[in-house]
Amino acid sequence: MSEGYESRTAGSRRLFERAKKVLAGGVNHNARFYEPYPIFVSKAKGQHIWDEDGNRYTDYWMGHMALILGHSPEVVVDALRRQIPDGTHYGMGSKLSIELGEEIQKDVPCAEAMRFCNTGAEATMYLVRLARGFTGKRVIIKMAGGWHGYNTELNKGVHRPFDRTESAGILEEEQSFVKNVRFNDLGAAEAEVKRSRGDVAAIFLEPVLGAGGCIPAEKGYLKGLGELADRHGILLAFDEIITGFRVSLGGAQEWYGVTPDLATFGKVAGGGLPLGLVCGREEIMSLADPTRKEKFVSIGGGTFSENPLTMVAGLATLRYLRKNAKVVYPSLARMGEGVRKGIDGEFADRGVEAHTAGLGSLFLTHFGSAPVNAEQAALEGKETKQKYALGLMTRGIFMLPGHPSGVSTTHTARDVQELVARSGEFADSLSRNGKRL
Ligand SMILES: Cc1ncc(COP(=O)(O)O)c(C=O)c1O
Repeated sequence: MSEGYESRTAGSRRLFERAKKVLAGGVNHNARFYEPYPIFVSKAKGQHIWDEDGNRYTDYWMGHMALILGHSPEVVVDALRRQIPDGTHYGMGSKLSIELGEEIQKDVPCAEAMRFCNTGAEATMYLVRLARGFTGKRVIIKMAGGWHGYNTELNKGVHRPFDRTESAGILEEEQSFVKNVRFNDLGAAEAEVKRSRGDVAAIFLEPVLGAGGCIPAEKGYLKGLGELADRHGILLAFDEIITGFRVSLGGAQEWYGVTPDLATFGKVAGGGLPLGLVCGREEIMSLADPTRKEKFVSIGGGTFSENPLTMVAGLATLRYLRKNAKVVYPSLARMGEGVRKGIDGEFADRGVEAHTAGLGSLFLTHFGSAPVNAEQAALEGKETKQKYALGLMTRGIFMLPGHPSGVSTTHTARDVQELVARSGEFADSLSRNGKRL
């Protein structure tokens, strides 16, 4: 199945060999490695990327789903052009971070106050610290399959069997107060709250479980978690690093109508430049005030935090999204729905059981029945997911194998039709090879 891929990508193969001699394992993010070797990008614009062999792809990975306006949108490029001569890095406060903060406050229900950093992993680390500092409790309940970046404590139970550390070098003690529970299962969260006997600081989850399968929270689940949290003096916290400014302007919290106490954002909010942020109720966030004498929570390092380039890129993106929200979000949702229904229809027509999960512009095709949690998503079809992604790459479409994808404002109805048609061709090739799933 990878022959077609390899014959088109000899230049990427050569670069990967070279990369392995200088970069550990040849990559700078583990998710970017896939068999037999990843393509190397030479250029990107709009909904397209080009690899080192000159192949053009319609891109649905979109920079880890950070690029809601596509690659190098004019509004962001113009903002960066204007900012660069005035400084690429201040290491001091500027009006820009206030403006971006105010923009976020307008849209995100829980964002009474916030702090900017450079990555999502930092933001989730800060969130854990704030939750513990505020409540004086230790346990963080997260979801099996929940990915919160390379945060030492939370890097647990992301992959099967969903109950242990993801990495050698992390001590068991460092993760002993992090508990994984099944997503979309209120009873599982209730049982963990009971087991932890009054020591739970926060229930922290992605409203759409991302790396765990692109699975949306079921109706009533987030509200139920909020009520559970309230009953026990626990904070409800959302990781909106994927969903923020993507499923709606105010994120998944607005879409579901459930306001958490704390939340993390990144990706879209940085307009394609590095950003993480933690935000929440003023009462909690005020613990980060450096003039505080008691209960001071030390968050907010980062040489490059509130970097002016990120601030202007984020501002340009969020202002564009607000101005065009009435068109952008329904259009993204329509395209996302078209992708999900279209792909599933193509596979169903060929007798292949497939289910494309997601919400709004987000999607990921599973081979097997529709999963409602990461355990189910991991049960079957991993190999087919890999083949499907490679099969699409040979047909000029890029998705990172096994990871969620996202439509951007630069994708068109024609791109969607193309993706659906190419998925059909892949389904045909499966039947031709006599594959039973
Ligand atoms: C839900 C979620 N949280 C946190 C992170 C980590 O963000 P970063 O890669 O910027 O550290 C990611 C990254 O993919 C994510 O999807």
